[in-house]
Amino acid sequence: DRSVKIAPSILSADFADFGREIQAIEAQGADWVHVDVMDGHFVPNLTFGPPAVAAFRKHVKTVMDVHLMIAPVDPYIEAFATAGADIITAHVEAGPHIHRTLQAIRATGKKAGVALNPGTPAEAVKHLLDLTDLVCVMTVNPGFGGQKFIDMTGKVAELRAMIGDRPVHIEIDGGVDPTTAPALVKAGADVLVAGSAVFKGGSVDQPQVYGANMTAI
Ligand code: DX5
Ligand code: ZN
Repeated sequence: DRSVKIAPSILSADFADFGREIQAIEAQGADWVHVDVMDGHFVPNLTFGPPAVAAFRKHVKTVMDVHLMIAPVDPYIEAFATAGADIITAHVEAGPHIHRTLQAIRATGKKAGVALNPGTPAEAVKHLLDLTDLVCVMTVNPGFGGQKFIDMTGKVAELRAMIGDRPVHIEIDGGVDPTTAPALVKAGADVLVAGSAVFKGGSVDQPQVYGANMTAI
């Protein structure tokens, strides 16, 4: 379904070759590029800070979708905005003031996303929908690529109904592949993040494999 956007997560790319990896996925039809920022505190893994994100920006011609798995969030919003994020997504579980965080993201002129861990109900975003451009439904516990999918189809359907006619994307993140994607889209998801399923079996020198993997999703 081409109205559904594919956002490959570069967490599954070759870490020594991000520039070419980003060019390869975009040449093969990626709609957005998903960047997973982890702090070793909110999640048990470490990835990229603002200087790395600024370096990715030089290669991303589509939309840079920055998923912050960090706590606290607010002290770093300005830095990720300056680094060139188009969308900045923060977790509701990352602190007591997600409403303030979303206001602060919007104040930078960037789009604001809110992410929900698998154990967090849809109701957690009910009073945030006019402040947000995207709700990210985690279908794994965040921290690593390549984990087993956790079915959140019911949560997606609840969110789509709650969102109504507001212009809010529903993004799915974790374990998305050709077998898990269709039910999520049917329930109302319109952005699919995929790491291992896009990069699997490919390389920057054979980018058509990435293209085939994206088409399969
Ligand atoms: C998980 C990250 C995801 C991850 C998805 O914490 O937020 O974006 O890269 O990887 P796959 O698609 O392999 O589950
Ligand atoms: Zn992510």
